Amino acid sequence: MPEGTLVRFENVDGIGVITIDNPPVNALSPGVPEGIVENVERSNADPAVRAMVLIGAGRSFIAGADIRTFGTRRAPPVEGRRTHQILDASQKPVVAAIHGYALGGGLEIALASHYRIAVPSAKVGLPEVLIGILPGSGGTQRLPRLIGPKAAMEMITSGRHVPAEEAHRLGIIDELAPEGGLREAAIAMARRVADTRLVPRIRDRDDKLAEAKADPGIFEAMRKSIARRARNQKAPYNCIAAVEAACNLPFEDGIRRERELFDELENSAEARALRYAFFAEREVAKLPDIPRDTPLRPIKTAAIVGAGTMGGGIAMSFAEFDFPVKLLEASQEALDRGLSRIRANYETSVKRGSLTEAEMNRRLALIEPVTRYDDIGQCDVVIEAVFERIPVKEEVFKKLDQVMKPGALLYTNTSGIDIDIIANVTKRPQDVAGTHFFAPANVMKLFEVVKGAKSAPDTLATAMDLGRKIGKISGMAGNGDGFVANRSRTPFGTEMNIMVEEGALPEQVDKVMVDFGYPIGPFSTADLSGLDIGYDSRQRRAQQDPNYRKMQIADMIVEMGRLGQKTGAGWFRYEKGDRTPHPDPELAQKIREKAAELGIAQRTFNDEEILRRLLFASVNEACKILEEGKVYRASDIDVMWLGGFNFPRYRGGLMYWADTIGVAEVYRQIQAWHQQYGARWAPSPFLRRLAETGTPLREAKPSRPM
Ligand code: 3HC
Repeated sequence: MPEGTLVRFENVDGIGVITIDNPPVNALSPGVPEGIVENVERSNADPAVRAMVLIGAGRSFIAGADIRTFGTRRAPPVEGRRTHQILDASQKPVVAAIHGYALGGGLEIALASHYRIAVPSAKVGLPEVLIGILPGSGGTQRLPRLIGPKAAMEMITSGRHVPAEEAHRLGIIDELAPEGGLREAAIAMARRVADTRLVPRIRDRDDKLAEAKADPGIFEAMRKSIARRARNQKAPYNCIAAVEAACNLPFEDGIRRERELFDELENSAEARALRYAFFAEREVAKLPDIPRDTPLRPIKTAAIVGAGTMGGGIAMSFAEFDFPVKLLEASQEALDRGLSRIRANYETSVKRGSLTEAEMNRRLALIEPVTRYDDIGQCDVVIEAVFERIPVKEEVFKKLDQVMKPGALLYTNTSGIDIDIIANVTKRPQDVAGTHFFAPANVMKLFEVVKGAKSAPDTLATAMDLGRKIGKISGMAGNGDGFVANRSRTPFGTEMNIMVEEGALPEQVDKVMVDFGYPIGPFSTADLSGLDIGYDSRQRRAQQDPNYRKMQIADMIVEMGRLGQKTGAGWFRYEKGDRTPHPDPELAQKIREKAAELGIAQRTFNDEEILRRLLFASVNEACKILEEGKVYRASDIDVMWLGGFNFPRYRGGLMYWADTIGVAEVYRQIQAWHQQYGARWAPSPFLRRLAETGTPLREAKPSRPM
């Protein structure tokens, strides 16, 4: 068998085995579709071949079209579509043998084949919507014919990866093969079906489409059900329209409609931003100053110190991904409280139907409550998640230094304390780094790894890898006040408070940001987290820094006893037992009075001004972070905003979004506000240079290494 080609062919006793070998994930890059076509045509012409098996080399079947070719002049789906037609039309049956992933164009190839066999660990899906497009090689026409339009729409509009066993139940996979025995099982299957006179083609089926004929309202219902999460986006709606076409048009017409709907999306602003986010999330894993082959420290067991909200959420993240984890609290009472909070969280998910009871029990069994430091000494990694005060953290790290086995990784989940202060109380600062989770820790994707002055390369590389293993997106940050994510978000928080002093109401600011794409507005988010935390840290800051600009209205609200949802009032008012924020005219009146007392003139704001004030303030800070070399690349900041703060993904991220306005305009506006509002808007010199050279923010390189 010739090596080095993208698609190989081998005749195994009358079965043509076509192997796709395009590492790392067998994307359908130029040459792959052509290779498949050539071998299918050749097999059809060769009497010595009775049936075919299509299989992937390496770790996967096919992960889909090559995303790098989208938006370039070469339109990838054209070649893809021809491949599907030729597979479909093959007179000799083709068995798609799936391991790893069959995604997008990869699953479409399997659907154009005549039989599908997979190992249980395989995953299949049509994730195109996640990059702003739709399955453009027949997926929207074949999948509904195979599993019915409702199930197909659910898969296509969510883009989720469906595990092989579920795919088998749904009817996507015909047969499951034993793990490690896929090739043999697929060849055996091909032999069994080799003499089938009528090769089964999904395109010829319409029994499952009856569901839509019986209930034509399913499409409208689907549009309604996605309306909230799909707002401002086109791709999810085009996905539904394409499935609708599958139900209403003959197959070939449906394929044409799918193409039109695809073409509308490929170069849309949303698709470009989502492609950017996809690659930025891969780039963030690359550590320019740590060799790729740095051996990682093995992690089998983990411990969390502190069973508060954060510690509990972190323990849940570990349990979700099968890590046994010990949860340490000094007092049994605090431990019990922490555990019942975890249980209550799981029970809510069970009630909602997003978690089975069996899975809840499995996860709970992985979390072992302990009360003595000696109980965690043999763990490979410990994450400290205690109260955010330096003396408390120092105390914990002194104890960890005494009890943890040599080589154990000592991570701290601090959101703002200097990592070196913590590391230096131990005799092993090389083993210490920050691992900053975002609340709620079991939900938010960002895992900010913070590099201390003495953190060893393998301490950092293992932290980055650990984040990935517990389902997070890891990003590296330099040590310094607020690290990268929170530091770049802080000016946003400052501006939202100041704008309220100047006359914008919390409900207006929230509406602007929700319309922009955030799932909830910043004032509602603050009410949800509780306003007392911010209050405490503002008081501390004010004590430390005589020039600190006080947030008098935010302080007033807390002093009125309005701490957010938990007290039934904060920036909004809440009905008993309901989380819906209601604007509060009484508060609006108080704000006006306070502003008058402070001598701040109130005025009206337009929506664009609110959006820009919040986000440009953060762009300016992000530029300072780049200037100081506290981050590897600008796109890492975007990844952090997506995973840590729910920035709307289809806008790419903070810096990508600012580029859609243009770096020169961002700079001009910041300069104007510097004149108007003073020092806090002083433009970063780094931003000025980008504006002068016309360098896009997202491509900006830090001024010095981290
Ligand atoms: N095109 C181009 N490159 C791809 C790719 C794709 N479809 N999928 C993965 N890659 C690259 C990644 O960029 C990365 O490259 P790097 O090492 O240079 O950074 C490398 O492959 C490995 O990827 P991951 O780090 O993501 O590997 P994982 O093992 O963590 O994940 C995966 C594997 C689940 C397959 C994930 O890569 C993924 O989700 N890929 C995208 C799948 C997808 O969206 N497919 C649909 C494409 S659109 C389509 O098919 C259109 C058709 O309908 C017409």
